[in-house]
Amino acid sequence: MKRMIRRQEVVDALKQVIFFEKKDNIVDLNMIDDIDIKGNDIKITIVFPKLDDPAVGIVYNSVVKTIKQELGDDVKIDVKPVSEADKGRGPLAGVKHIIAVNAGKGGVGKSTVAANLAVSLKKLGYRVGILDADIMGPSVPIMFNVEDGQPGVYEKEGKPVMLPLENYGIKILSLGFFVKPDQALMWRGSMINNAFNQLMKDSDWGNLDFLVIDMPPGTGDIQLTLAQSYPVRGVVTVTTPQKVATADVRRAAMMYRQDKLTIPLLGIVENMAYFSPEDCPDHKYYIFGQGATEELAKELEIPILGRVPIVEKVVESGDNGKPISLEGEGVIVDVFMEIAQNVVKRVEEL
Ligand SMILES: Nc1ncnc2c1ncn2[C@@H]1O[C@H](COP(=O)(O)OP(=O)(O)O)[C@@H](O)[C@H]1O
Ligand SMILES: [Mg+2]
Repeated sequence: MKRMIRRQEVVDALKQVIFFEKKDNIVDLNMIDDIDIKGNDIKITIVFPKLDDPAVGIVYNSVVKTIKQELGDDVKIDVKPVSEADKGRGPLAGVKHIIAVNAGKGGVGKSTVAANLAVSLKKLGYRVGILDADIMGPSVPIMFNVEDGQPGVYEKEGKPVMLPLENYGIKILSLGFFVKPDQALMWRGSMINNAFNQLMKDSDWGNLDFLVIDMPPGTGDIQLTLAQSYPVRGVVTVTTPQKVATADVRRAAMMYRQDKLTIPLLGIVENMAYFSPEDCPDHKYYIFGQGATEELAKELEIPILGRVPIVEKVVESGDNGKPISLEGEGVIVDVFMEIAQNVVKRVEEL
């Protein structure tokens, strides 16, 4: 007589399969969505944070091997990986696209680009949130005039959930709400990572089309955490035209392209690309030089999403808590709109 495979046997076998990113077995991590047994056929649906991740293949192979080992070589196993987002599971299930705004180093205008990208996406009719993950220099709360705000907290299934602040129709959270930059120096990488994870996972972002993340400059822990644990739709890289700046950017951009992290680079924003005097807007002065950004774009095989001129009012509007893209018109407002449209286009075609 043929042996009946019991569900519990399958579960016990699956408990031997470790999901290394989270250092626990896939059963206790609640990754098993469904087990369907018909005779000798076992169908298992497993939920992963994201599917384009080598961990999926590793778990897949390990499941097949372990089940055959425990239940016999004659069982037929069909493993179906699904993503948290597809299952409507996971805290960020309501967020369609996570966009990381990245730079090689500080001071190139990363936050300015992130803020104005968020505003321009909002002007295009999308639902937008912005997360300030730049712990050493959080500036998003100032740029959105919410620096004195306190995000709300409520409880869900015994766990505190954070509610983003909102201004100009954009949801906002910042590491700076919880850690002051002078304390941040004393924070260990793991603590910063925990805080970052809380902002991502234990926050109620609701339904968003785009969550724009103002990343810390360079290549650090937060970049790795983001790339490994979250379904990032793409990276927008900000640089200024200097050659040295693009060297840093290259390093930072390549990190997302390491063989394990295949996150699409959406393109480059060249900030402070040129200066035009107000009384003769046709004159462009290339103060920081010209050509290095093209070279970089060519080398990385990604487009330049836009070139943002140096405009005095950018500083003022940032300090005054209202990104310049909210202020009517001008070349720079158009450029940020063009960047947002290019981001949407790239997200659609990639
Ligand atoms: N295109 C621009 N024209 C004029 N000033 C700019 C421009 N982009 C950024 N700035 C100013 O440069 C400073 C650094 O920009 P910021 O966005 O804070 O850089 P980062 O986030 O990369 O450190 C800010 O004072 C900002 O207002
Ligand atoms: Mg910044």
